[in-house]
Amino acid sequence: MKNFLGFKNKKSKENHEITLDMQSIPKHIAIIMDGNGRWAKEKNLPRTLGHKAGVETIREIVKESTRLGIKYLTVYAFSTENWKRPADEVNALMKLLVEYLKKEVTELNSQGVVVKHIGDISKLPKICQEELNKAYEMTKNNNGLTLNLALNYGGRNEILHAIKNISNEIKKGNLTYTEIDEKVISKHLYTVNIPDPDIIIRTAGEQRLSNFLLWQCAYSEFWYTDTKWPDFKKTDLQKAIYDYQNRDRRYGGLK
Ligand code: IPE
Ligand code: IPE
Ligand code: MG
Repeated sequence: MKNFLGFKNKKSKENHEITLDMQSIPKHIAIIMDGNGRWAKEKNLPRTLGHKAGVETIREIVKESTRLGIKYLTVYAFSTENWKRPADEVNALMKLLVEYLKKEVTELNSQGVVVKHIGDISKLPKICQEELNKAYEMTKNNNGLTLNLALNYGGRNEILHAIKNISNEIKKGNLTYTEIDEKVISKHLYTVNIPDPDIIIRTAGEQRLSNFLLWQCAYSEFWYTDTKWPDFKKTDLQKAIYDYQNRDRRYGGLK
């Protein structure tokens, strides 16, 4: 028998109760958390307060993802292009990351969450690297949700990194040119052992990928909302999942 979870969704047009099919909860949800700056601007606040408010949303969404039994949640927190922002903003983001990890890891650990990261973290301040590694060490044996933080992450950078590593394997004689296939490429990405995202959510209205999970999103369902990340609620996540469950994923084949 199917197991359903009902909830009220104020934003749904019909304003009626939406029911999620708990048997087909997506395995992997990836989120482009956008709109912190605009959220703050609207309120005449500095952009950094928008980022701070955005951290609260991460807390709520992680909790809800755990409750729904989602296995992987990847959040785009800092792109390879975000270094172009003023140093003050970049520093504030790094500080928030450290604060988040210091404050939340114990709680995340008690929820059974594994805290991982993707991206080239060697370019982040040492303290960020240390806190990320500590968080992973503390949580790696958990078997609940994997919270995957994309930091200094860029899809092109990831593919480049994979190509270099594969070339190196060939040079060392561990792999031959004919052995390279899609599986080999996937194994050399930062997301090794993580299934491709079922849904990519983007907040704040933009309809682009901004260099997120370029290889992995080949057949992901894209879902976007005008809601800015600090205003994104668990009911928005439920709405995204509901829409996902009503889509027809054909992967190029026929129904
Ligand atoms: C997303 O919010 C967070 C990061 C990119 C770090 P933005 O900072 O991009 O917010 P907007 O797009 O300027 O509103
Ligand atoms: C994408 O948002 C990166 C993150 C959410 C971390 P941006 O705000 O950087 O993307 P663009 O500049 O609008 O494409
Ligand atoms: Mg933005």
